[in-house]
Amino acid sequence: MALGRGHWGSRFGFVLAAAGSAVGLGNLWKFPYITWENNGGAFVLVYLAAVALLGLPLMMGEILIGRRAQQSPVPAFEMLGSKRWTPVGWLGVAAGAVILSYYLVIAGWSLWSFAQCIGWSLHGYTAKEGAFTQFLSSGSIQLVLTAAFSIATALIVSRGISRGIEKATMVLMPVLLAILIYVLITALTMDGRDQALAAVFVPDFSQMTAEGFLEAMGQAFFSLSLGLGAMIVYGSYINKDESIFKSALWVVVLDTSVALMTCVTMFTIIFSIPELQNDLSGSSVGMLFITLPKMFYTQMPGGAVLGPAFFILVAFAALSSTISLGEVSTSLMIDRVGWSRPKATVVTAAVVFLGSTLSALSFGAVGSLSSIEVFANKQGVFATLDHLAANYMLPIGGLLTTLFVGWKLGRKSTIEELGLSRETVPFKIWLWILRVFAPMAVLYLLFNVFMGKDFS
Ligand code: PHE
Repeated sequence: MALGRGHWGSRFGFVLAAAGSAVGLGNLWKFPYITWENNGGAFVLVYLAAVALLGLPLMMGEILIGRRAQQSPVPAFEMLGSKRWTPVGWLGVAAGAVILSYYLVIAGWSLWSFAQCIGWSLHGYTAKEGAFTQFLSSGSIQLVLTAAFSIATALIVSRGISRGIEKATMVLMPVLLAILIYVLITALTMDGRDQALAAVFVPDFSQMTAEGFLEAMGQAFFSLSLGLGAMIVYGSYINKDESIFKSALWVVVLDTSVALMTCVTMFTIIFSIPELQNDLSGSSVGMLFITLPKMFYTQMPGGAVLGPAFFILVAFAALSSTISLGEVSTSLMIDRVGWSRPKATVVTAAVVFLGSTLSALSFGAVGSLSSIEVFANKQGVFATLDHLAANYMLPIGGLLTTLFVGWKLGRKSTIEELGLSRETVPFKIWLWILRVFAPMAVLYLLFNVFMGKDFS
């Protein structure tokens, strides 16, 4: 098969690469702003429950499928199940392409912030209120940045899942974590700390709607890269003697910690510097790119060095995610259509980029793209696609995958792949989560959203 079944080079190879896929803009950019929009507390609690009860079991399931089949998602579903299951693989490919199309746009913003930070470090901090909204509505800047990120992703994917990705993540992830911890500690010395901690950790369920529940669940799938087969692809490279449970647990804990740390940091800064709230009301999607620079340059010792360093790391965190997103569709074209890797990469990247242009121009540059409203309160192509992919495509893909692992894969192969010798109690719990609880939870939520239910 064209997609060489190399294996991760080191013990932590899988954990690092999978964490590289999971930790990305979902944690650093999306989690804080949707938590803000959903009024914190209760949303965070529902998110954590979704991560533990749905995310971890499904992560194990996806890795298991990949390692068992040694194939990318579409052929994997076919080989372990039957032709009837291949649409699940295709749904994942479609979700991956949709997500990649708008993800590249936000990833491009990190390049912009990096350049801006360099300028501020050299000449002093001069951010003006409303500057970010202006940046968003400049179509040409948006397109150039998106194209740059798209080319970088395609270049790496075209070379295959190389040792390069694994080696790079091994250095970059710990550096990112170290900077995040430093940023968090500094933020916690600011006045807004108590208000921020209360906003993030004290639940107020009167704020929750069915839509909010769905969004928390969708975010859990999105942030853990689940429901579209990315972990099936990465799982197909994991060594046979590694524990699927431990690997999945590591990825989940790392991913969730990064999301929470980032969220607490941002909220603290926002509550400490009141004028930031005015700027954010215009574009809470830009939270990461507005709040952190403010802290780097006005509050933090060494911020002039850490500012640019941080945004370069954000770009890398995004890159290790776009690579895994690109790999889902590219590996399919190689496995299924028989294209060479470079051809598969270029064609998929070009198609995805066409989609990206619509999102890139939907932040004010082109009126009709910015105002289209398919889902209530989700204005513009970007918000529409994000809502569609994260809150519908991923949960539905995840639901079908849990049914597949729970009912279709034989118990014998499942137990064997998990490295067990018999059906232990934790195994049974896991199995019944996949068989019944997870599918019911997703279906129940989707049903309530369609009925417009308000849980408050
Ligand atoms: N998990 C990534 C993030 O949080 C996004 C992603 C989703 C990557 C799905 C791959 C697959 O940024």
